[in-house]
Amino acid sequence: MDHKKRFSTRVINEKFNKQDVHGAISMPIYRNAAFEFPDSESIAAAFQYKEDIASHTYTRITNPSVENLERKIKAASGADNVMMLASGMAAISNTFLTIAYAGSNIVTSPHLFGNTFSLFKFTLEAFGVEVRFVDVNDIEEITSAIDENTCGFFCELITNPHLEVANLPEISRLLKARNIPMIVDTTVVPWCGFDARKAGVDIEVVSTTKYISGGATSIGGAILDYGTFDWQHNKRLQMAKRTQYMSQFMFKLKREIARNIGAAMDPETAYLQTLGMESLQLRFEKMSASTHELALFLSDNKKVIKTSYPKLSGSPYKKLSDELFIGNPGAMLTFNLKDKESCYRFMDKLQIIRRATNLFDNKSLIIHPESTIYGTFSPEMKMIMDIEDNLLRLSVGLEDVEDLKNDIIQALN
Ligand SMILES: Cc1ncc(COP(=O)(O)O)c(C=O)c1O
Repeated sequence: MDHKKRFSTRVINEKFNKQDVHGAISMPIYRNAAFEFPDSESIAAAFQYKEDIASHTYTRITNPSVENLERKIKAASGADNVMMLASGMAAISNTFLTIAYAGSNIVTSPHLFGNTFSLFKFTLEAFGVEVRFVDVNDIEEITSAIDENTCGFFCELITNPHLEVANLPEISRLLKARNIPMIVDTTVVPWCGFDARKAGVDIEVVSTTKYISGGATSIGGAILDYGTFDWQHNKRLQMAKRTQYMSQFMFKLKREIARNIGAAMDPETAYLQTLGMESLQLRFEKMSASTHELALFLSDNKKVIKTSYPKLSGSPYKKLSDELFIGNPGAMLTFNLKDKESCYRFMDKLQIIRRATNLFDNKSLIIHPESTIYGTFSPEMKMIMDIEDNLLRLSVGLEDVEDLKNDIIQALN
């Protein structure tokens, strides 16, 4: 990566792997399943996946449009290796299918996106993988939860919907001393606002459905490997192959797990998300500045019981947020009203902000997490996850912030 150039310049000017035959200025959508070869020697070489040849054979395995997006994300993040998949959940599940084994455990917070919680608690537990929930702000609790069978520590950069910020540099020091990889879901703050390598992240997972897709155009996910973990310490990967270009983790993921699971990114999605990458910084800065303004606005209103946004001066995460994030900590905030009925009444009166799930669309979106994302969890599981029924989550879009304030005021009144 050319670090001398700034974020958007790097992303926009990242070159194709091979010059397009027509000189197309944007990578075309290679909407084909298979690629042909001039002779048997070259198809055999491609199947042996000689990295210096970088030929594509079949789109479930690699594809030029998808590879181009991977190159842009590499330029944006400074990661050693990137793999795109069909969704954020595909990125998280493929990561753990690569490193977990029967008898291993995952140490994580109970404050997780609903499907991630369900993946750990229900899907992976059925294969003999244990999940250990800890308070990620309690370093002693993390220390006692990890052991020689911990295949990874996992958390969300800012928990959703609780908006807690984990002290990643501190956790990373502990994990490095105990040879455990730190895997972080950074969906809520993209690379122009957060430097994962500096914070000690080994593996980063992202739902590219959010900021990257450029306005909720498509579903996608990314796995980024910073090349910082020695996989000799993972019981499953210590015998796995590595190459000059790929760690044991990436080798196993790309050559075995991802192609067997088959959740490949669609080339058309890669095209849309490549365009999204080019305007990412511009959208992120505007959305997150409006979010900070709305957080201040909501916290001033008597009808709002509590507003959470890590940059607010009353937030217990303000100091950490200022250290970890470049600018504002993203475009998601939450707030509590009197009760569930008040939340429903408020949502039903909104005229600009849409009632929808998803995050970081160009449109502002509101949701009542307890009755939707967490709606099918039992009361007992909701207790474990600390889901409140008077909480609303707002994802702030690109509309004029004054119009958003007016919409909120008329709905609160
Ligand atoms: C923090 C976080 N991680 C992962 C996901 C899953 O992403 P996807 O819907 O692309 O599978 C979501 C979805 O909302 C999310 O909010």
